[in-house]
Amino acid sequence: MPNRPHVIDELISAKAIAARIEALAKEICHEFSDTDKLVVVGLLRGSFVFIADLVRELTLPVEVDFLEASSYGDSTESSREVRILKDLRGTIEGRDVLLVEDIVDTGHTLTRVTEFLNARHPKRLKTIALLDKPSRREVPFTADWTGFEIPDKFVVGYGIDFAQRNRNLPYIGAVRFL
Ligand code: IMP
Ligand code: MG
Repeated sequence: MPNRPHVIDELISAKAIAARIEALAKEICHEFSDTDKLVVVGLLRGSFVFIADLVRELTLPVEVDFLEASSYGDSTESSREVRILKDLRGTIEGRDVLLVEDIVDTGHTLTRVTEFLNARHPKRLKTIALLDKPSRREVPFTADWTGFEIPDKFVVGYGIDFAQRNRNLPYIGAVRFL
C-alpha cells in the first residue's frame, strides 16, 4: 500500500495552521487560567509537531508528557483495537490535563485514551485535536477543541504520517492515489 503511486495535495497551509493554533492557545489559556501547572500530554507520534507549536503559544506554566497508543501500522485503516504502548512518566491525579492528538477519525483512539487517563482521576481532562474527520466517526467522540474539520481524505504532514513518511512536511496534505 505505501508503495502505491500517489501525490500529495496541500490541504491546510503552514500559515493557516499557525494562525489557528494562536487562536486555540488563547482559548486554552482562558480555560486553564486558574491552573498552577497544566500537564500537556501529547499522543505519540502524530502530535509531536502540533504539541511543540501549541505549548509555545501557551502563556501559562506547563509540564509536557507523552503517551503512545497503538497506530494503524502501515495501513490507512484503523484496527479499532487501541492499546497503550507507552505510559506517561508523570502523575496526573488531581491535576489539570490537556490531551493533544493529531486527528480524530473513527473516535476509537481518543475514547480509549481518555478512559485510560480518567481512571487516574485527573482534576480536569480536556482534549484538543488538530484535525477532525466527523464523517468517519464509529463511536461518538468530540474533542473540546478542534483545529480544522476535514473531509474523508487520508492526510499527511505536520507530524502526521503515511507508513512513517511525510511527518516532516510543514503543511497538511491529502494523499491522492494515482
Ligand atoms: P481513530 O481511532 O480512528 O479516531 O484514529 C485516530 C488515529 O488514526 C490518529 O491518531 C492518527 O494517528 C490516525 N489517522 C486517522 N486518520 C489519519 C490520516 O488521514 N492520516 C494519518 N493518520 C491518520
Ligand atoms: Mg495517532
